[in-house]
Amino acid sequence: MHVVITPAPQLTGEVVVPGDKSISHRGVMLGALAEGKTRLSHFLAGEDCYNTIKAFQNMGIDIRMESCFSEDGSEERRLVIQGKGLHGLKKPVKEIQAGNSGTTARLLAGILAGQPFEAVLDGDISLRKRPMDRIIEPLRLMGAKIGSRDNSNTLPLAIQGGRLKGIEYTLPVASAQVKSAIILASLYADSPTVIHQPAPSRDHTEILLRHFGGRLETRNHTLTAYPAQELQGRDIRIPGDISSAAFFITAALLVPHSRITMKRVGINPTRTGILDIYHQMGADISITNIDDTDGEPVGDITATHCPLYGIEIGGSIIPRLIDEIPILALAATQAHGTTVIRDAGELKVKESNRIDSVVRCLRAFGADIEPTEDGMIINGPSPLTGNIVTCRMDHRIAMMAAVAGLIAEGQTIITDGQWVNVSFPGFFQAMDELRS
Ligand code: S3P
Repeated sequence: MHVVITPAPQLTGEVVVPGDKSISHRGVMLGALAEGKTRLSHFLAGEDCYNTIKAFQNMGIDIRMESCFSEDGSEERRLVIQGKGLHGLKKPVKEIQAGNSGTTARLLAGILAGQPFEAVLDGDISLRKRPMDRIIEPLRLMGAKIGSRDNSNTLPLAIQGGRLKGIEYTLPVASAQVKSAIILASLYADSPTVIHQPAPSRDHTEILLRHFGGRLETRNHTLTAYPAQELQGRDIRIPGDISSAAFFITAALLVPHSRITMKRVGINPTRTGILDIYHQMGADISITNIDDTDGEPVGDITATHCPLYGIEIGGSIIPRLIDEIPILALAATQAHGTTVIRDAGELKVKESNRIDSVVRCLRAFGADIEPTEDGMIINGPSPLTGNIVTCRMDHRIAMMAAVAGLIAEGQTIITDGQWVNVSFPGFFQAMDELRS
């Protein structure tokens, strides 16, 4: 899908940010493993989450969208999952296709490790390149049998689950996907599992699992996950995804005379690194109406155009903003001074190699940006010029390029704009509606 972006003189108004992707995936997974119905309001109807839905339908779980009336009387759609309990999944009728979704593949591997059947897990050509050794190793230690073609430790994987044992494991990277795969497998283990994390990563699995009746203890960076007898289905309102909001926060900061508000966005502290960094860069961002939905904090975020200043970013804040680095790099091209991003080698194993793809894309716009081994160095402010962009199967690169197009001179064309549907269906329309 070709999308043409032209410069915006101003962006004002409200954006409804789609439901959080990480929480949407986990809601389907825990809903399927719980007893009774789980209803997810503001579920992210993006391609990644549909892959999770299809995986569980493939294992005999009834999942459908229904219309209902929300508290304010307006009609809304919610996802209803008819859980069959921890031991209710059936051997999949065909291989499980995770598509572009690393969260589907890695978290599901943890669940499959505890099932009494063999399943094959596959993905698209982008996901087939991403490392799976990080989940294979701990799940094998727990007792699962996992095979990959030529021992490549990449998808497709054949997973033969069974009786698992609890382990004590130190995560080699601060990855929420790996942590969550182990937590989900430990529901099926014969004893508790202890996980040591190098730094905190998003804790949605922990919050949601407790909400469904699971037992977990956390102390500092160490977590103990207990085997479960039973989980209970729940009704959950999913917060807006701060990783999606980040594109509009940045658009408001960069486009002159702009002000954009996003209501009920998730502000879980393990995800708000981007807000902390933008505040340090001098951004005008306010959060009001702070509330709590099912253990996840939410708030209304308003961002207003203002000058930004370069800073150094590294260390334990990186896992709290890892998905926002592409859009943060764009903001840094407009900031006064130098921005250095380090300790972000994980960017190389995302939907694309995001050190390469961010540098390649922003250089094409005329930015002054250098790749490093574990991040990038950006000098600003630089004027940007519109150009033709391919996002190479990476939704966040497509959205970064679209925001760059708003402040670039001339026209920007994104040749494969359909990739935004992975996490933000309706992204381009939402952007257009803010032009005044
Ligand atoms: C996610 C965790 C992060 C993040 C990804 C979603 C999750 O990946 O980049 O988009 O839902 O657990 P890692 O765990 O690989 O850091």
